Amino acid sequence: MEIRIEKTGDPRQKPSDESKLGFGTYFTDHMFMMNYDEGQGWHDPRIVPYGPIELEPSAMCLHYAQEVFEGMKAYKAKDGRILLFRPEKNMQRLNSSNDRLCIPFIDEDFGVEAVKALVEIDRDWIPTSEGTSLYIRPFIFAMDPQVGVHPAKHLLFMIILSPVGAYYPEGLNPIKIYVENNYVRSVYGGMGYTKTGGNYASSLKAQAESEKIGFTQVLWLDGIERKYIEEVGTMNVFFALDGEIVTPELSGSILPGVTRMSVIDMLKSWGYNVTERKISIEEVAEAARDGRLLEAFGTGTAAVISPIGLLKNGQDEIVINNGKIGDIAQRLYDTLTGIQWGELPDEFGWTVAL
Ligand code: COI
Repeated sequence: MEIRIEKTGDPRQKPSDESKLGFGTYFTDHMFMMNYDEGQGWHDPRIVPYGPIELEPSAMCLHYAQEVFEGMKAYKAKDGRILLFRPEKNMQRLNSSNDRLCIPFIDEDFGVEAVKALVEIDRDWIPTSEGTSLYIRPFIFAMDPQVGVHPAKHLLFMIILSPVGAYYPEGLNPIKIYVENNYVRSVYGGMGYTKTGGNYASSLKAQAESEKIGFTQVLWLDGIERKYIEEVGTMNVFFALDGEIVTPELSGSILPGVTRMSVIDMLKSWGYNVTERKISIEEVAEAARDGRLLEAFGTGTAAVISPIGLLKNGQDEIVINNGKIGDIAQRLYDTLTGIQWGELPDEFGWTVAL
């Protein structure tokens, strides 16, 4: 399919100070759109000036949240190349989310081509300061003007771009996490493994309550026994114990992060013993008491590598590595961002140049 391109005649003001980008508040000059209509399939791919879209008040996405999204990034290397990080993995996961949400599959190769075409057009928006990147947000939602509950027959696939800095104001400084014992994010059989807005909507109340008492994010426990660790608000989570690095296994209620799978590969290539298994909050607390909990950190596209300095579990405060970033998290951050920025050899073949 050929992508029709309509360039803006009225470019938007670019943010002048890259140190104040924050996360996801600026958007570039153009956006990608493609419609799905039953009987016709996906059609009319186009890149048009960024701006508001028309939606019927009865559009099904507004009522029943039939919506999926992805998050990926583009980086401008010093030699001028523009690099994407494992974009095919994001498109595979988009289709996995589509499957669960009854959304017609997109052609994964075409999805990557659409991302490349859009990033190419707005390449001047890619920030270059350390710790910045161009965040890419593909998303699909139901358009049918109807308030009956059924899978949509008319959908829109869009991609928007946002120059971003660090997701957390803490940057690479360790964050404080609240272990959530009241609310749950997802259960096996639900949608926890998909990237759909509903998972994030269900997290807002816990997130807001934990922020009010001084925490950056919550750590979710499994919804059945309220015992096993699942993930942190916007990241997967790893615990470096003496002799073993553990991350919760993909049980169906946990997001299969692209950064998570890359971190597992990097750690294994460095000779670490990495296990994907159930790990309870009690096991982590006990390891901390015994001096066997060396580091904890989160991984995600938005969050990159985010060290955890404190876990508050009920009355118990688990301080990790004296609240400082550990060697493993620092090495992962340096190596991952080095590969993403084209400054280190890409031994895994993860980056894709435009
Ligand atoms: C990402 O890491 O890309 C995410 O989608 C997390 C978030 C900003 C919802």
